[in-house]
Amino acid sequence: MNLSESLAPTKIVSNPFVIGNPIINPRQFFGREYILKRIFDVWRTTPLQHIAIIGQKRSGKTSLLHYLSRIIDTPAQNLRPNQRNDWIIPCYQWVYIDFQDPRMAYQESLLRYILSKIGLPIPQPCDLVAFTEIIDQYLDIPTIILLDEIKAGFNCPDLDDHFWWGMRSLGCGGKLGFLLTAHQPPQEIVQDDGKPSPFFNIFGHVLNLEPFTEEEALDFISSIPQIFDKKEIQWIIDNSRKWPSLLQIICHSRFTALEEGKKDHSWKIEALQRIKPYRDLL
Ligand SMILES: Nc1ncnc2c1ncn2[C@@H]1O[C@H](COP(=O)(O)OP(=O)(O)O)[C@@H](O)[C@H]1O
Ligand SMILES: [Mg+2]
Repeated sequence: MNLSESLAPTKIVSNPFVIGNPIINPRQFFGREYILKRIFDVWRTTPLQHIAIIGQKRSGKTSLLHYLSRIIDTPAQNLRPNQRNDWIIPCYQWVYIDFQDPRMAYQESLLRYILSKIGLPIPQPCDLVAFTEIIDQYLDIPTIILLDEIKAGFNCPDLDDHFWWGMRSLGCGGKLGFLLTAHQPPQEIVQDDGKPSPFFNIFGHVLNLEPFTEEEALDFISSIPQIFDKKEIQWIIDNSRKWPSLLQIICHSRFTALEEGKKDHSWKIEALQRIKPYRDLL
């Protein structure tokens, strides 16, 4: 074997399932027609309004946010044949913020990150006042800020009341639209003083993230290269309760058993074992 052969990357066998990680590539995102319509209907008009998405752990919140931030600018050739990318006209900017990322725990690095994502000048120092001035002066493209796991943001000491009042004021300007995710409705997320943050008052649209519909679950299952038989499909739908995360896990077990030529039902035992940690969804 020569050196270039030994350094050649190993052939990656394509695996249709995404387990553990959120869905980043819109092509691998399924379903959610109803909530997507509700979200994009809100953003079809300006001034931009604000949306809260409520969903339990592993219900698909982060995947939804990545999809929102990418789908409009993803060309049709990078999507599945029946996937649409024309929800709204492509004139928006998107900034995804993950409050589990330690850089997002500090005002300066968070505000700097937002400006760098939307290509605006970054003032020195990049504090709330300077940030607000830059947005006021230069922002002329409707911009959606996606705030994933807002509760973690509220727990950051550097993101204080003053900061959230500032965000609220920016949200009232109409050029910035916020979408947050949380495990419970915003008015139930209280601060140390037992009161909800004033930032939450601007979130007039509150939507729950539900399981897939039967049709969406079937669409997901039938996208798999090996077609399962009717009874198995029903078993998968019943045991996943149509949650995408559980569909991914169960289908993976079924798919692996097929690839390994196993003829028994051991894949069902394995699948049930693997979805056990997520029984909160069931
Ligand atoms: N729309 C979707 N289509 C396909 N799989 C999805 C979808 N949404 C979520 N999933 C699956 O569910 C898992 C959990 O999703 P994630 O977005 O990380 O949930 P959350 O952020 O609510 O914890 C992902 O690893 C992925 O397997
Ligand atoms: Mg998440």
